[in-house]
Amino acid sequence: MDWSKHYAERLSLMGHSEVAQILELTSRPEVISLAGGLPSPDSFLLEETQEEAISVFRDLGSASLGYGPTEGLPPLREALAERMTLKGRSSGKGEILLTTGGIAALDLICKALLESGDFVIIEEPSYLAAIQVFRSYGAQFLGIPTDQDGVCLDALEVRLDELIASGRRPKFFYIIPSFQNPSGNCLATERREKLVGICNARGIPIVEDGAYEDLRFEGEFQSNLASIDPEVVHVNTFSKIMHPGLRLGWINGPDVLIEKLALCKQGQDQCSSTSGQHLAERFLRKGLVEQQLRKSRAIYREHRDLTIEAFKENFPKESLASRPQGGFYCWIDLPEEINTVRLLPEVVESENVAYVGGSAFYHDRDMGTNQIRLAYSFVSGDKLKDAVARLGRFFQSKLSA
Ligand SMILES: Cc1ncc(COP(=O)(O)O)c(C=O)c1O
Repeated sequence: MDWSKHYAERLSLMGHSEVAQILELTSRPEVISLAGGLPSPDSFLLEETQEEAISVFRDLGSASLGYGPTEGLPPLREALAERMTLKGRSSGKGEILLTTGGIAALDLICKALLESGDFVIIEEPSYLAAIQVFRSYGAQFLGIPTDQDGVCLDALEVRLDELIASGRRPKFFYIIPSFQNPSGNCLATERREKLVGICNARGIPIVEDGAYEDLRFEGEFQSNLASIDPEVVHVNTFSKIMHPGLRLGWINGPDVLIEKLALCKQGQDQCSSTSGQHLAERFLRKGLVEQQLRKSRAIYREHRDLTIEAFKENFPKESLASRPQGGFYCWIDLPEEINTVRLLPEVVESENVAYVGGSAFYHDRDMGTNQIRLAYSFVSGDKLKDAVARLGRFFQSKLSA
């Protein structure tokens, strides 16, 4: 069968999958991958997970094995509503929808809001899988530049007004305000309210991705955008605060929207894992999420320090690295003449180290070709330091050649 004759148009919109390339390049066991944003296995509460999982099946019996409500199990929705309320976004359980992870949450939002050809505003660089999801719904992009304090508001206002003046309306603004993927940076506190004001004045919904917001290991607490304005649609995931194998996330937003998203979810997966939701609810209620977060923050601070140290000692002096105060990622700007995308296969071959080339995080693939994202989350200790050092020396050798 020639399957290419049968593919839907949307497949051609998805283009080339960086994720598949990364997995292929790093499938050799000797390759140290700083490519994927994987949590540290040392952060998991394995024993507690085993105990709680056994108690879920023992206490609830067959009720833990059946389908659940599309919106999610009521006790878990309540626990998440309490969590969001504590963070400053006063919420009831009707404003929470459980999802099968963060990416599925973004997919649902697209399903409910996006028509093919609609514009989505993104900060650039931005999360590559989100760009891929938006693209699969036929989105066009309005990319807004960022600096170390997050998205540049002057550029945002100018570009938004240009787009609106040309008769086109962006559907929503997708933003990761804290420990952004890929830059590791945070949107400055004084920019947060202003950003909400700019979008509100033009009637543009904000979709906030809070995947890393609980992983601050340095600096001062910042309110998320949902706590500034309850109309902000907040997406989050258990992947970084418990474990990604759970495949659970949630959306917190106005109840009218949650109802529509639940309608879309019926055709997506009907409901998210019931046994997983019972486990997540116990983790939240017993303070195990907080316990794991304390452990995770200490781990990621150490990994960040090792990465920055090895960067300073080995990368070409013209390079610039972000200094994240939380999360998983360090973003590095290299001299213009270094094409990180083209060099990736060579560096994997010769140094046995992998990263993600910067252009994957832009909607225009000609951008970011001298940048890289290093995920310092998964690899630890001397292995991490050595991997960053090897990369630095490799790039230095390319400059000297
Ligand atoms: C910014 C951001 N949002 C969402 C996710 C979604 O994760 P998951 O689908 O595992 O919940 C990730 C994972 O890397 C992420 O980096």
